[in-house]
Amino acid sequence: MHPSDEKPFFMRDPWVYDPEKPAQPRPDAALGFDTRALHAGFHPLENVEQFRSFVPPIVQSMTYPYTSFDKFPDYIYGRSKTPTVSILEERLAALEGGEGAVSAGSGSQALFNLVFTIARPGDNVVTSLNTFGEGYKQAATIFPERCNVQFRFVKDYGNPAAWDRAIDRKTRLVWVETPSNPCLQVTDIAAVAEVAHARGAPLLVDNTTATAALQKPLELGADLILLSLTKFLAGNATVLGGAIVGPEGLVEDVRWNTTEFVGAILQPFEAWLMLQYLETLSLRMERHSSNAQKVAEFLAAHPRVRHVNYTGLPAHPQHELASRQMSAGGGLLSFIVPGGMAGAEIVMNSVRLVVHAVTFGTSRTSCMHPRTITHEHMTQEERDEAGIDDGLIRLSVGLENPEDIIRDLDQALARL
Ligand SMILES: Cc1ncc(COP(=O)(O)O)c(C=O)c1O
Repeated sequence: MHPSDEKPFFMRDPWVYDPEKPAQPRPDAALGFDTRALHAGFHPLENVEQFRSFVPPIVQSMTYPYTSFDKFPDYIYGRSKTPTVSILEERLAALEGGEGAVSAGSGSQALFNLVFTIARPGDNVVTSLNTFGEGYKQAATIFPERCNVQFRFVKDYGNPAAWDRAIDRKTRLVWVETPSNPCLQVTDIAAVAEVAHARGAPLLVDNTTATAALQKPLELGADLILLSLTKFLAGNATVLGGAIVGPEGLVEDVRWNTTEFVGAILQPFEAWLMLQYLETLSLRMERHSSNAQKVAEFLAAHPRVRHVNYTGLPAHPQHELASRQMSAGGGLLSFIVPGGMAGAEIVMNSVRLVVHAVTFGTSRTSCMHPRTITHEHMTQEERDEAGIDDGLIRLSVGLENPEDIIRDLDQALARL
């Protein structure tokens, strides 16, 4: 029989979440995080016959030879998967502790690919307003209007019973972002996982702001991870990418639905760059966190700052929960200056070292105004609920010497 006579992969039954089937532990689970960041998916000695290379190779080929008429090769065409991207996917899965991973051209695309794969018209996704701007736009417009997949926004996100009430038998996914961008709200992963599982729904955690170096949602009960590679994982704004980590069956469904058939892929060179950057992830996250802690303390004590959102400050309303879920506070914070939009404008026009830019998670400190840049589309009522004050400035604390960042912010705040 020729392999093409077997039932094609896209005619198989789609992945369905089964609370009775826990994810399998990874074979490399005994290795430490930093060891996995260096070796998962590619070890120079294990791959010596194939590549004779110390570092993972870039295989920049978009088509692959068949060695025999009656056998499909592992790699066929660039739209399904390519070797360097596979190494990266294996490494991301290893860092999060998941069975597998499927990458995408951006974090936003990874979210789209996942929801598009698991939800059908009439289904729903339960989330809150504590999500990144483009995710909210997909949830509020694209999916409901184009696919008849509704998103329900839980208001009282700190209360597991509120999540429980929002979930019904048409819920295909519960999605939380913690800590959230830009207000650093923290959601209790274990508590929401418990209510989601009791109602037969999988929990997706967006781990972009903390990264697996500081937070392991799968160990806390989550089933799926959403990642933007563009932020701390790359760490320098030179790659746009995303991924979903989770059970093999789901990963394969996403791969065929949205990479193979639609072409929503990550390219080999970007994957290769990411492999270099991930090697230093935990070192960078430690320094981002210690710098951000110092900057947050400076801002919290500053007379011209009305409020600071940072999980590492004891004054953060969920500081105790954040300390249980995360090993450090991470590099992202936000703060409110007096004078609303005008106050934010003065500070953002006055910084000299800190760069006004839309991304976060880079080695250079950057600031951004959520009210006008990422959350401009929300209604005023939604912004009030989500904590997007007109004077809110998001600060991604980089790897510079912290006293230089503080000095720059101090001179900018003095102009208020
Ligand atoms: C928490 C979070 N997740 C996902 C994304 C989407 O990532 P990308 O910019 O790679 O599409 C973002 C982008 O801001 C984000 O902040």
